[in-house]
Amino acid sequence: MNSLINNPQEIAQIRNDFPILQTKMNGKPFIYLDSAASTQKPKVVIDAITDLYTNYYSNIHRSVYHYSQLSTERYENAREIIRKFINANRFEEIIFTSGATESLNLIAYSYARFNLQEGDEIIITEMEHHANIVPWQQLAKEKNLILKYIPINERGELVWEEYAKLLSPRTKIVSLVHISNSLGTINPVKEIFAKAKKVGVVTCLDASQSIQHTQIDVQDLDCDFLAFSGHKLYGPTGIGVLYGKFDLLDKMVPFKTGGDMIKSVTLEKTIFADLPERFEAGTQNIEGAIGLAAAVIYFQSLGIDRILEYENHLLNYATEKIMEIPEVKIIGTAEKKASIISFILEDIHPHDIGTILDKQGIAIRTGQHCTQPVMKCFGIPATARASLAFYNTEEDINVLIKGLKTVIQTFNV
Ligand code: ALA
Repeated sequence: MNSLINNPQEIAQIRNDFPILQTKMNGKPFIYLDSAASTQKPKVVIDAITDLYTNYYSNIHRSVYHYSQLSTERYENAREIIRKFINANRFEEIIFTSGATESLNLIAYSYARFNLQEGDEIIITEMEHHANIVPWQQLAKEKNLILKYIPINERGELVWEEYAKLLSPRTKIVSLVHISNSLGTINPVKEIFAKAKKVGVVTCLDASQSIQHTQIDVQDLDCDFLAFSGHKLYGPTGIGVLYGKFDLLDKMVPFKTGGDMIKSVTLEKTIFADLPERFEAGTQNIEGAIGLAAAVIYFQSLGIDRILEYENHLLNYATEKIMEIPEVKIIGTAEKKASIISFILEDIHPHDIGTILDKQGIAIRTGQHCTQPVMKCFGIPATARASLAFYNTEEDINVLIKGLKTVIQTFNV
């Protein structure tokens, strides 16, 4: 394996694949440290979308003319690329959605709403993104279900013993985040799901933050459902994926209804289409699917193992450098972490940190990261978050460190 560590030529080539990384923000070279919010797009993704609109765009699944057939073929080929990428068994198990949020809502409304009864229990965790909390809370309210949370410890890791206590004969679903978007913690999902599976519990994985940092194999993880967004995987916004095991999906009623998801409609009744169309009502995000497929091919071409090794190297480098600044405290120090560093700097509000860094061309995210319960656990209103991808460099981190020193000087702390 030809490592990306100490390989500046190849990293420079990779960075050249991303046009936005060649720009300046506020007159300074653009230092993008916000890939957990959304990743930047390589030229191959931009080109795939331009090619569609320039050369063959038409609506899919509807017409016999060549361009419509070609658009349909590329859209369905995208499904096959995603299927292989996550090692799903069948193409019918891949549903295109608008993103992880829609995928998770679909599971709550099309599966859980019809399969759970009053008093049944759902287990999630205290470190979920709001997208994996709110749909369950809404459903729990509607159907009198009980929502239980696996707690987190002071390092931002799940408390395993508590999970064992939460599982009960009424547990019907365990739904959890693979990698925390605000803490970076990598959760032991395989073990958590294995325990759930032993007692017949349906498992659901929010892979929004792991699909770009790990090799996902849905069969190996034995998850029943999985959700992720294209825009966090170097693909376009507005496209996402719901994976579901065929036997479960096939018994579910659609979440949205309309055109392209039916076999027949009369004035009296509708017969729904087979999978996967049953869950893809209306004209789909055609360019989203095609762009996402291009992103997956690009991502795989770099070598997932090499990406992980390099990102891990960057995480260690950044963690060391940040820890050298005594005024900074890292929030989320799990033993197993992906390339996300949340931190606070004395009592300077993270938005002020973000604003000063912005002037220096540095993009980080500040706020609660759609994880207000995590902030509550740590007793803080918000964090600043630097998140890394394979297109980042040690130099990006050095610039961040310089920027943080400017923040300290500005506030005189
Ligand atoms: N969920 C995204 C984040 O972590 C937007 O920033």
